[in-house]
Amino acid sequence: MSPQFPLSTSPGLLPARVLTSIQPPLQISAAQPQHLQGLATILTDSFHPTLRSLSWFYALLRAGIYEDLRHRLRHASPYDICLIALDLDPSSSTLPMPLMGTVELGVRSLAPPWQIRPAVPYLSNLAVDAAFRGRGIAKQLLLACEGIVLAWEFQDLYLHVLENNYPARRLYEQMGYQLQQVDGYWGVRLWRQPRRLLLHKPLNGAATFPGVLELPSC
Ligand SMILES: CC(C)(COP(=O)(O)OP(=O)(O)OC[C@H]1O[C@@H](n2cnc3c(N)ncnc32)[C@H](O)[C@@H]1OP(=O)(O)O)[C@@H](O)C(=O)NCCC(=O)NCCS
Repeated sequence: MSPQFPLSTSPGLLPARVLTSIQPPLQISAAQPQHLQGLATILTDSFHPTLRSLSWFYALLRAGIYEDLRHRLRHASPYDICLIALDLDPSSSTLPMPLMGTVELGVRSLAPPWQIRPAVPYLSNLAVDAAFRGRGIAKQLLLACEGIVLAWEFQDLYLHVLENNYPARRLYEQMGYQLQQVDGYWGVRLWRQPRRLLLHKPLNGAATFPGVLELPSC
């Protein structure tokens, strides 16, 4: 199957989507190498918000995230893409345009290595800069991913969320994701880690009814 959206790192190949009907107006497009610094900052701040005060540790972590991301962008397969949302608000227009959020989409097998299962579209690293949250930016990034998955001719989208990440769980519920599986039994038992919830959204046009994600107790 040949994808209609080619390499995420090829400039201009993924048509940028400009949304002026929402506030702030934004552009969703594929990340380019010049966005790496901003992306590393958003991801570090979003997934490790308490580490900002530990400046040396924060810098180390951010550098690691930057390198990972650089590697992923450079070695992206035709089914890997990193989307960014850029602020198009003329009143805040600076160059480069402020990066408001990001998400990564790929195709991978969710089964352990010893099981053979078909690869499926998988979404990760959804993050919105704290200054821009609550304005529907994550929703727009998710909708953009769904469009790409359909263009790739898949019908399903999967992602993981931690059970204690209530804002993200609410977002996914609202967007029609359903609980598929609860992972991480031993980590939860031994280290008191939050469980990872595998969520699924069928994109085949069938109605999905957002509801509370009922979790079995551990
Ligand atoms: C989760 C996150 C991506 C949401 O981004 P956002 O742009 O603020 O989300 P949106 O404005 O599109 O919100 C859409 C819906 O999500 C839910 N939501 C978002 N933030 C919420 C919050 N703080 N509390 C409760 N619900 C929230 C709401 O249902 C909201 O719909 P509503 O505005 O109609 O109530 C953002 O908070 C973030 O980057 N968090 C840190 C990283 C993270 O946890 N990523 C998810 C990993 S699985």
